[in-house]
Amino acid sequence: MDKDESISLLADEVKACQKCPLYKFAKNPVPGSGSVNCEVIFVGEGPGEKEDEQGLPFVGSAGKLLDELLESIGLKRADVYIANIVKHRPPGNRDPKPEEVEACWPYLLRQIEIIKPKLIVCLGRHSLGRFLPTIGPISSVHGRCFKKSNQHFMALYHPAVALYNGSYRKTLFEDFKKIKIALKKIK
Ligand code: URA
Repeated sequence: MDKDESISLLADEVKACQKCPLYKFAKNPVPGSGSVNCEVIFVGEGPGEKEDEQGLPFVGSAGKLLDELLESIGLKRADVYIANIVKHRPPGNRDPKPEEVEACWPYLLRQIEIIKPKLIVCLGRHSLGRFLPTIGPISSVHGRCFKKSNQHFMALYHPAVALYNGSYRKTLFEDFKKIKIALKKIK
């Protein structure tokens, strides 16, 4: 089975998933989107209202900023893969509960296993905390690369925090340049 087939089978499983109650409140599952042949996966927290409506990750206002950030380093959505820690929208955009994150986690691990990215970019503290729980607060580690179990990670602020804050926005654009640098260095 090739990567595209594997990822689309996984998406079918996510669509039918009832491992936690989030599916009951969501309009659509949001398994992830992009290229399975990419070097970098971006991982956010969970779908918001627009993502829930469209079944696609990062299509709301944070997603528009993500598009700009990608473009600033010469990338398009189709060059990367974008996913979330949880695949159904938590009602009212609350944080996902630990048991919801736990139930959904194997899907993300399988996406990573299929795609085998050079770099996983953790967007925001929830994503970072799940992959690298002991690394420290995102305010201290953003823009830095880490290696764990032979996998490279980069910590970045979540685009949503930069929407109404010019200084986070500037930091995000600066940090994004480090993605390019990291990808050149990673074998
Ligand atoms: N925020 C996220 O963490 N993920 C999305 O898909 C959209 C907004």
